[in-house]
Amino acid sequence: MRGELSPPIALMRMLIAAEDVERVGAHVAPYAPLRELLASHRDGCARICAMLASGVDSDAEADSVDAGLAFARRLFDYSVEASEESSVALYSLGSPELLAAATAEVVALLDDWALLQAHARCLEIGCGIGRFQAALGPRVQEARGLDLSARMIAAARRRCATVPNVAFDVTDGRDLSMFAAGRFELVYAVDSFPYLVQAGMALVDTHFAEAHRVLVAGGCFVLLNFSYHDDLARDRRDIAQLADAHGFAVETDGELPFHLWDGAAWRLRKIGR
Ligand SMILES: C[S@@+](CC[C@H](N)C(=O)[O-])C[C@H]1O[C@@H](n2cnc3c(N)ncnc32)[C@H](O)[C@@H]1O
Repeated sequence: MRGELSPPIALMRMLIAAEDVERVGAHVAPYAPLRELLASHRDGCARICAMLASGVDSDAEADSVDAGLAFARRLFDYSVEASEESSVALYSLGSPELLAAATAEVVALLDDWALLQAHARCLEIGCGIGRFQAALGPRVQEARGLDLSARMIAAARRRCATVPNVAFDVTDGRDLSMFAAGRFELVYAVDSFPYLVQAGMALVDTHFAEAHRVLVAGGCFVLLNFSYHDDLARDRRDIAQLADAHGFAVETDGELPFHLWDGAAWRLRKIGR
């Protein structure tokens, strides 16, 4: 009500807390914006509660990288079958329109940062259903997406079947070894690093090293959300250390630039060759 969160994010947090659409309905009844949002997205919200109550998701740290990767693969193979929109952004409430508006905010930020030049070759780590490849493909030289969920990649290929300049790969989630050094102007990850963090900092460390290797000199590594620790100061410290260790300058440090989404943004620039 203070306007610090968008209504979809507020509703998403209540759905996560309650896992019960009836209970959320009772709580939001006095608040017109949330009540109306729930009424107009009731089916999507009920599906989200069912996904949450299925027990497939967990915020526990993984015992090993192997276990973390297996967990993420299981979670996203399951989620994308339940709802494509909600599988990549619960705050879409299952709505293609809300997801499109949130996607447009991210693309506008990349645009503001002048990262979407016609010659740009872009790689997304954890591309999900390919919403960013669909948006970027017509504008850049190459919009590539990697994901460890084969079902996500199948959905992305369907979504982008007629989009130029896109390509997708299923990865084992461990590194970017399928790509040569200096292959991309932009490497980015939207809400996928929290799952790498959950699998262990060794995996995160490898991906920072790999992002540095596959970027051209001066290329950018953009991270939108780093962890779900709910501690921005800790995320900033972790990223500062990783950037320092792997040869990146931190140009944007955990800002909150979006209206619809509460994602935190980092822009790192590759130093050296
Ligand atoms: C919340 S979804 C976001 C998808 C997409 N970035 C978007 O915003 O639409 C997170 C994605 O990261 C993928 N993912 C998680 N861990 C991964 C890893 N180690 N390597 C590649 N993809 C991973 C998941 O399969 C899932 O598709």
